[in-house]
Amino acid sequence: MWTCGGCVLVAALLSCLATPGRGLPAPAHGSPPPCGYQSCPETKPGFLNVHLVPHSHDDVGWLKTADQYYYGNFNNIQIAGVQYIIDSVVAELKDDPTKRFIQVETAFFWQWWQEQDDAMKDIYRSLINSGQIEMIGGGWSMNDEAATHYQSTIDNFSWGLRRLNDTFGVCGRPRVGWQIDPFGHSRETASIMARMGFDGLFFGRLDYQDKNSRLQNRSMELMWRASADLGSDADLFTGVNFNGYSAPSGFCFDIKCSDEPIIEDDESPEYNVPRKLNSFVDQVKKQASFYATDNIMLTMGDDFNYMEAHMNYKNMDKLIRLVNEMQKNGSNLHLMYSTPSCYLKAVHDANLTLSVKSDDFFPYASDEHSYWTGYFTSRPTHKRFERLANNFLQVCKQLSVTGNVTGEKEKEYLDAAREAQGVLQHHDAITGTAKQAVADDYARIISEAIHGCQHVTKTAINNLLEAGGWNGSRLELESCLLLNISQCEASEGRAGFLVTVYNPLGRPVSPYVRVPVSGRNFTVTDVNGTEVSWQLVPVPQSVRDLWYRKSKASSELVFRAEQLPPLGFSSFLVTPSGGQSDTARVYETHIGNQNVTVDIDETTGLVSNISYNNIQIPLSQDFLYYVGAVGNNSRAAYRASGAYIFRPNSSEPLNITQIVNVTVYKGPLVEEIHQVFSDWVSQVIRIYKDEDFVEFEWQVGPIPDNSGKEVISRFSTSLASQGEFRTDSNGRESLLRRRNHRPTWSVQLEEPVSGNYYPVTSVIALQDEGAGLRLAVLTDRAQGGSSLHDGQLELMVHRRLFHDDAFGVGEALNEQAYGKPLVARGKHYLLLGDTASAISSERLLAQEILLAPWLFFSSPRAAGQWEKQMSGLKLALPRNVHVLTLEPWKDGTVLLRLEHIFQKSEDSSLSQAVTVNLQEFFSTMTVVSARETTLDGNQWLSATRRMQWRTDPPAARQEEATSSPGDSLEVSLRPMQIRTFVLEVK
Ligand SMILES: *[C@@H]1O[C@H](CO)[C@@H](O)[C@H](O)[C@H]1NC(C)=O
Ligand SMILES: *[C@@H]1O[C@H](CO)[C@@H](O)[C@H](O)[C@H]1NC(C)=O
Ligand SMILES: [Zn+2]
Repeated sequence: MWTCGGCVLVAALLSCLATPGRGLPAPAHGSPPPCGYQSCPETKPGFLNVHLVPHSHDDVGWLKTADQYYYGNFNNIQIAGVQYIIDSVVAELKDDPTKRFIQVETAFFWQWWQEQDDAMKDIYRSLINSGQIEMIGGGWSMNDEAATHYQSTIDNFSWGLRRLNDTFGVCGRPRVGWQIDPFGHSRETASIMARMGFDGLFFGRLDYQDKNSRLQNRSMELMWRASADLGSDADLFTGVNFNGYSAPSGFCFDIKCSDEPIIEDDESPEYNVPRKLNSFVDQVKKQASFYATDNIMLTMGDDFNYMEAHMNYKNMDKLIRLVNEMQKNGSNLHLMYSTPSCYLKAVHDANLTLSVKSDDFFPYASDEHSYWTGYFTSRPTHKRFERLANNFLQVCKQLSVTGNVTGEKEKEYLDAAREAQGVLQHHDAITGTAKQAVADDYARIISEAIHGCQHVTKTAINNLLEAGGWNGSRLELESCLLLNISQCEASEGRAGFLVTVYNPLGRPVSPYVRVPVSGRNFTVTDVNGTEVSWQLVPVPQSVRDLWYRKSKASSELVFRAEQLPPLGFSSFLVTPSGGQSDTARVYETHIGNQNVTVDIDETTGLVSNISYNNIQIPLSQDFLYYVGAVGNNSRAAYRASGAYIFRPNSSEPLNITQIVNVTVYKGPLVEEIHQVFSDWVSQVIRIYKDEDFVEFEWQVGPIPDNSGKEVISRFSTSLASQGEFRTDSNGRESLLRRRNHRPTWSVQLEEPVSGNYYPVTSVIALQDEGAGLRLAVLTDRAQGGSSLHDGQLELMVHRRLFHDDAFGVGEALNEQAYGKPLVARGKHYLLLGDTASAISSERLLAQEILLAPWLFFSSPRAAGQWEKQMSGLKLALPRNVHVLTLEPWKDGTVLLRLEHIFQKSEDSSLSQAVTVNLQEFFSTMTVVSARETTLDGNQWLSATRRMQWRTDPPAARQEEATSSPGDSLEVSLRPMQIRTFVLEVK
């Protein structure tokens, strides 16, 4: 162990760094600081080494808002103030180099850092350099893993790790993931961590049955093979914490706990050393019996612990001293302050052989009736708003680069938007498991981020227009965030308008644009002055009846924005005169085009058939609801359905109606079936000209009555799916699910519905191998979903509940908006196809949903000699290549991530490796050099070394080595590969 008793305060500490302790190589003057694995405490061979890991779990919003948690107000709600945690930990650590602490959420760290003076910053920096404070995880927040999209998880880490690298350099670089609280764990999160160069991941929550079986098999530590395509690049050591993230029972010395301190005065009636030590030794030995090496980790902390760190450390000091003194009497316990990465190193040094797991850790159950599958859907409008914010954040980032935005104010707006999206990834934010007031604050945060970014996009597009010769006044380029309820002042409030449609994808797309309008006669012209055909479609009555909608528009103008340039835009002028729409209400029961058709049953008004390429199959779609279980939560059988937990009181959902009221509209561009199920459920089913998918735009709410309802949309077909279905992992790789089954243990399900629910971030699918057919439903936000019967898919779209499920939030999930229970509106996209080719359509459509074209509205301009169309790319990228990230980075550099969006064997041609040339990449600048980094963009790939592990079976060999950490401008991509580059451009 490295000790340096005489060190006090800054100067001494700094000199201390150069003073070698026992067992540490003497760092030569000017050599790198001893952070990292070399700063780890020495373990004692032949002893059971007990790594005490002091930590605090600090939610970026939950019962209080992120700011309230930071400052520590509203302590009547929860006693928690993160600023005091960091202050008091630093005060403890600076005087004793043996003491350690880990800092997890960069959002809080950064807030604290900015308030410190230089002297304090120096102290903190020296604690980082000595390894006493270890940054771990390091994302802006500790991301949820079910409802998050991989694009945003990567962004969350990139921004957190960026702040750390900028502040501390290599010593601020986390080496392990720390996902101690998220409610289940996705394979993609592990894959992302591996590709960031992390050596391991620790988490706290897994299915109680899985945990029992892992304890029995001593497989709490394993190798997670986190990608089916990326080989060992995505293998990640994964350790499950013994006690979640809490201290052993009786050993929480925190001011928030009521456990006894250690009382050593044997004359005092309070003397408790023998009792405490016995209890401690028992717990430690028990834990050790379940782990494979001579090391165990004790998570010494809990939610918002260490506000009075002296209490924690003073008692841990005593514990360490007293237990280690027992060695004189033959004890084999050796205690030390440590960190998760130091524990990891000790496990690694023990030459352990790890078992391999390649599925994920969903769903999470904490007992036989508590499946944490409700949060997959909780707060559906927040889940959509977060996705919309991501869509715009990517537009904002791209345009900052291509539009050469350099202003300080704009940089601040972009940073604020990055931080906002980081906050939203938190495991109580996007999950919908925070209190209502906190959820409202998250909505405020995103809303401000979007408004800030509008200044950036406006500057960027105007810059591009000026560069293209436009010298009129600047365009307003307003965004409309309520297009989902057909409300947009900028289109409906004007006689005519210019709509600039920006495409954030690296390939051309031809989306249908829909904008609410008040008139009936229009001319739409494209950049060439050519008239574009259009159609007016009535706004559904259920939307017009929304009491909070402020719009005069009774119709939407629909036209196709043909061939939008990659990472570019095209403008369309809408003027209020000209032809009339030829949409007609028809008395038919059939809509469709040459690719796909849908029939409805004349009697019920429900969908009855779907055909694809003239293959017709029976398909019905209906809305139903489960009634949420009610209980006082005093034991498992009395668990209530709530924000976290989905627990229906019956396995059979109830119908909303037998008869659906139907109106059908047809026109040249789109055909629509408007369905009304009840006064709180309605839907539009639409098929656009030439498209191959069917859109189901559902609207649910206000959910009535006093019984909790969990509403699903259910698709039933004749497909023989044989108990299997597929869901995506955070929008990327596909995972096979089998009803009533878990791949790694024999599951006993007492909750047959919720125990079969999985997170659907973007797609759920069924296959009939015999018929060679595949049916997929894509979503516009994260939802819970399942296939409870062969041929059937269901997605939970909305839930309103009247009871808390007693996992801490302390409120029922009974969302109100505008004075009534919440209304949610969203889309499902249904694709039917051959198993051999359907996935490619799904992959491409999923991208077009996630990074949809963004509409900017301006007042009409006289047609003149100006660039109304531009592309950020010189050439369109191949369809299997995605510009996952394009953003301004540091010192004028640009961060670029290129992704191959196909898995192996998904498509005969699009699953092939592909090469992109950066020399011929941007249209407005030239790439001078490219330097490859880990996935997060903050570590040079050439300097990255990951720990190697022995596994059984042995590690998957990569098919081909990652083309040498490429600083080459020829970028090759294998299936599912993402490569990240810092570019110098001019
Ligand atoms: C690690 O374990 C393997 C067998 O499990 C053994 O062959 C190898 O020699 C060990 N390596 C070390 C350094 O102990
Ligand atoms: C990380 O920080 C160090 C020290 O400031 C710097 O030299 C390095 O370039 C940074 N790494 C990246 C990938 O930006
Ligand atoms: Zn938490």
